[in-house]
Amino acid sequence: MFYLEKLEITNFRGYQNAQFEFNPQQNIFYGNNAVGKTSLVEAIYCLSFTKSFKNSRDRDLIRVGAPFYRIKGTFVNGESRDEVVLTYDMTDKRITKNQKTAKNISEYLGYFVCVDFSPDDLDLIKGSPQTKRKFIDANLGQIDSEYLNALMKSRKILKERNEYLKTAEENKVDFAFLNVSTGLLIEQNRIIIAKRNSFIEALNKEMQIAFREITNGEECAKMVYNPNCTVDNLEKKAKERLSHDLYMQQTTWGTTRDDVLMYIEEQEAANYASQGQMRSLCLAVKIGLMRLLDKKKIRTVLILDDVFSELDIHRQKAILKQINKQKQTFITTTSIASVDEETKRTSKLWEMKRGEE
Ligand SMILES: Nc1ncnc2c1ncn2[C@@H]1O[C@H](COP(=O)(O)OP(=O)(O)OP(=O)(O)O)[C@@H](O)[C@H]1O
Ligand SMILES: [Mg+2]
Repeated sequence: MFYLEKLEITNFRGYQNAQFEFNPQQNIFYGNNAVGKTSLVEAIYCLSFTKSFKNSRDRDLIRVGAPFYRIKGTFVNGESRDEVVLTYDMTDKRITKNQKTAKNISEYLGYFVCVDFSPDDLDLIKGSPQTKRKFIDANLGQIDSEYLNALMKSRKILKERNEYLKTAEENKVDFAFLNVSTGLLIEQNRIIIAKRNSFIEALNKEMQIAFREITNGEECAKMVYNPNCTVDNLEKKAKERLSHDLYMQQTTWGTTRDDVLMYIEEQEAANYASQGQMRSLCLAVKIGLMRLLDKKKIRTVLILDDVFSELDIHRQKAILKQINKQKQTFITTTSIASVDEETKRTSKLWEMKRGEE
């Protein structure tokens, strides 16, 4: 059993100081706009990823006028309890687990994963390749430290390589340097491609099952990795591209150009799917992700931020049915009336009001 038992947030978004004690299963926060529902689940998410799902800068998370924010969570983890504290004071961000401060963020990542369902999820389908890579990187990076490591190394090598390409003069190109950096980049790219490949393949399998369930078996979808280079042609492509790299003054190949394509009925979803189909596909990807994490015995909690307001009761039920009842879930909604009775009965409800925090 893994769940967030208590949460204390200080100077986070609109909250000055607030404490919560959660239900091990479902928790519903309801209330009007701007009462702090999203901020609350955002704080929970921050304990997992050490950053917001909104792509906000850390300074924006600090309550206006305050010098720092602090999020403290007490987790029930099997027989024991873990205390995780995340703080940021405009210069320093720290994450501490059981009083021990992590040397860096990646040392902490992976303790637990928040799977969040939010209205912004459509980016997974309609977003740029970069947005989709971010999704893969964040989730795969959480569960595979070798992947995260390769990603960081390749970013560093790429930065140096691109800096050099920007300044390289036509007649005085340092090919020895370029060859070394190409070799190093290929080495990391190989790891990244192989790991993205198997992750997306596994996620695709789980997503397809979930999508069939959501659409009552009437539609089929798929998620396909579209890499810029394969493990086998990396070396060849790097060689072929060298003169182009010099001309363009940047590296024009590799995993920073990968894409993930989503299809419904063999058509690319971004151009073809209806709004509702896209929403269902996004939810299927998230449910798929959750199942994949479960299979790997990774601790997860779920966040459904404002998702229900857009779904009819039938779809709400279909989604909740696919979520393991034992799993801790945080649901936000402006309209408690739109949540089905059984869910309400089995959940802990929180009526949120402005200024109560
Ligand atoms: N750094 C900050 N300092 C102070 N207040 C903030 C900060 N960041 C956001 N807020 C405010 O916190 C309030 C709550 O926002 P939040 O997104 O949690 O509302 P919500 O309950 O999810 O609303 P909705 O139903 O519209 O989604 C907003 O009024 C917002 O402007
Ligand atoms: Mg909100």
